[in-house]
Amino acid sequence: MTNTPQKMIIVSGIQPSGNLHLGNYFGAVQQFIQFIEQGHDCYYFLANYHALTSLRDPERLLRLTRSTAADYIALGLDPTRCALYVQSDLREVCELQWILTTVTPMGLLERCHAYKDKVQQGIPSDHGLFAYPVLQAADILIVSANRVPVGQDQKQHIEVTRDIAGYFNNTYGEILTIPEEFIPDSVATIPGRDGRKMSKSYNNTIELFAPEQEVRQQIFSIVTDSASVAEPKDPDKSMLFPILKLFCDSAKQAYWADRFRSGGLSYREVKQAIFDSFMERFGPARARRAELEKQPEYVDEMFARGVKKARDLALPLLHRVREAVGIPNR
Ligand code: ADP
Ligand code: TRP
Repeated sequence: MTNTPQKMIIVSGIQPSGNLHLGNYFGAVQQFIQFIEQGHDCYYFLANYHALTSLRDPERLLRLTRSTAADYIALGLDPTRCALYVQSDLREVCELQWILTTVTPMGLLERCHAYKDKVQQGIPSDHGLFAYPVLQAADILIVSANRVPVGQDQKQHIEVTRDIAGYFNNTYGEILTIPEEFIPDSVATIPGRDGRKMSKSYNNTIELFAPEQEVRQQIFSIVTDSASVAEPKDPDKSMLFPILKLFCDSAKQAYWADRFRSGGLSYREVKQAIFDSFMERFGPARARRAELEKQPEYVDEMFARGVKKARDLALPLLHRVREAVGIPNR
């Protein structure tokens, strides 16, 4: 991560989709925490309105919204040092979204992958999915964010946000801050148990908060070849090494690479080392997660605190937007 001296406003949305895995941690959660630790002004929210475009189970959505937040807190995202809130609690977002839709060309949204792919596959789509990027733009612009840490798959949405902010500013004056995405290239895509990108949609994850036996079973099911214990192995061709590496400093990486190459190393031993490192690294977070489960009111308190902080930025911005477009502020 580049060391940017000035304080920035950071925002990112988290889809409450449950069952966080190693890929989510190294690819997203860790960056969120780093931005807080660097002293930036961070706004992280549970994107429950976005989730509605794919989840139509009210009980599950409510449960996941709180439990995903608890996962992030347990992993070290300190809700007293950032604003952690629920998207739907910041009602100003939907109002800004409407105003933004009126400067958003149809063509811009028609080019967005999520919508385009569905249409191309002949799957019926809805207005929510079509308008999804405008809601995301409102999430970002309402807090005047400078940087948006996201995964590669969200790059297009941030470009759309920049375009929409540009159309608005050209029409009504320089009110909206044009944000930049932050996609860390230092963080490689974490491979899953079958070597493809770790993703819940591929069912190849190692889950951070699954019961211990399940974690063990997931780690021990990482695909390996049929090389014998005695045979020397190329660490760069193994699916185990990139996962083991996540937990190793450079000296330990060199140690394991050497063990792979010299032969006499069983895949069982490597899997056990991954399991032990996983438990050492995530054991404290898993214990905190279990504690948080017993105090849902703590998460709700943090949500209330978080939305208040977000509103301190959102309300004045919305007032300026209303004034600029000619909607009365009353
Ligand atoms: P999934 O692919 O399991 O559905 P999401 O799309 O919900 O995961 O991802 C949430 C966040 O975690 C995104 O910011 C994404 O970039 C990050 N992420 C997910 N999988 C990986 C991975 N395998 N490697 C690195 N980052 C990942
Ligand atoms: N669309 C994002 C995702 O699926 C979640 C999201 C919603 C978001 N609003 C956002 C991310 C604003 C960054 C900024 O992961």
